[in-house]
Amino acid sequence: MTIYSCYLREDVGTQPPNNYAAYASTLKRAPRQAPVRLEQTLSEITGPRFDPEHVSAADGDLSRWNGGEALGERIIVTGRVLDEDARPIRETLIEIWQANAAGRYTHAVDQHDAPLDPHFCGLGRVMTDEHGVYRFLTVKPGAYPWRNHHNAWRPQHIHFSLFGPSFVTRLVTQMYFPGDPLLALDPIFNSIPDTDARQRLVAAVDIDVTMPEYALGYRFDIVLRGRDATPMEV
Ligand SMILES: [Fe+2]
Repeated sequence: MTIYSCYLREDVGTQPPNNYAAYASTLKRAPRQAPVRLEQTLSEITGPRFDPEHVSAADGDLSRWNGGEALGERIIVTGRVLDEDARPIRETLIEIWQANAAGRYTHAVDQHDAPLDPHFCGLGRVMTDEHGVYRFLTVKPGAYPWRNHHNAWRPQHIHFSLFGPSFVTRLVTQMYFPGDPLLALDPIFNSIPDTDARQRLVAAVDIDVTMPEYALGYRFDIVLRGRDATPMEV
């Protein structure tokens, strides 16, 4: 078998374990046996390519939908997507999904007793530019209850999916907001053992990104693999 140049394995503690008792559903889906180590092959170190023409400018604007403006605090979320050597990942597809300002997803499974917003669908997609930069305009998602344990509430968050240049760099994660008191109580956030790695999931307010009189700006850089890798979702 031909062995190609491969990606390094993650540092211990910088990624969540497959099973984390406080995050109840991980116990149902985690493998019960130790993983088998396989060498990376060509099918893993290549990946899908997405044509920028398939993503419109409107796809990155979640602040308006269905002929009107979404309710809530308008925000800009931007940053760079980098590889393990801090090089920009150009023309890579990023998709996000999130709850509306009241903490409700536009999804049949979400039955939380909070109002839907007819002008917010909660889905967005953009491609990074030649510098690896992405940008979304959206509204700040609300916290919402979930049934992981008694009186469990998720901190405000935005789900991210990145395809990156290969299947090995595929990343699904969540972005959080600075100063959220629910972070200390959240088993998903706290399933990442390493404190510094955990903080990589928290965006920073950036006044230079902020549009005066219009929208508060947040910066959230994402690193695909390597020692500074953004933690994945369990
Ligand atoms: Fe969520």
